[in-house]
Amino acid sequence: MKAARQVLDFEQPVALILSGILGHVMDDDEARDLVRRLLAPLPSGSHLLVCDGTDTNEELRSAQQEHNDRTPVQYRLRSPERIASFFEGLDLVAPGVTPCTQWRPEPGAPAPHVDSYGAIGRKP
Ligand SMILES: C[S@@+](CC[C@H](N)C(=O)[O-])C[C@H]1O[C@@H](n2cnc3c(N)ncnc32)[C@H](O)[C@@H]1O
Repeated sequence: MKAARQVLDFEQPVALILSGILGHVMDDDEARDLVRRLLAPLPSGSHLLVCDGTDTNEELRSAQQEHNDRTPVQYRLRSPERIASFFEGLDLVAPGVTPCTQWRPEPGAPAPHVDSYGAIGRKP
């Protein structure tokens, strides 16, 4: 946080972007604690973005397991509900927790389902 304070004005709202990051934190409590600690010093009006792979597809779950068995860089697929739990205490920005491609897609553009969910929340 010290390094962030050197380049960011913590008197102004800050965007905390955890894109493809929390999946690398295997333990749920540790991941939630990390989000809580990163958000704590940010002022009201700051926003959190999280997007991460989900366990919503058997083929992906099995491929991820195979990957995790072979590498030290593990990744945990979570349910959309668990991803939503990272936003506890924040006001979810519409449309809430959705597959990333379906979060405000361009009008008329295809928005296929992907097994990666995301959301944005505002710190009250
Ligand atoms: C899937 S990539 C996402 C990169 C980028 N944020 C994006 O959305 O395109 C995962 C990133 O997490 C970082 N990473 C790996 N293990 C981590 C950990 N334990 N804690 C925090 N970040 C980690 C990696 O260095 C890598 O940059």
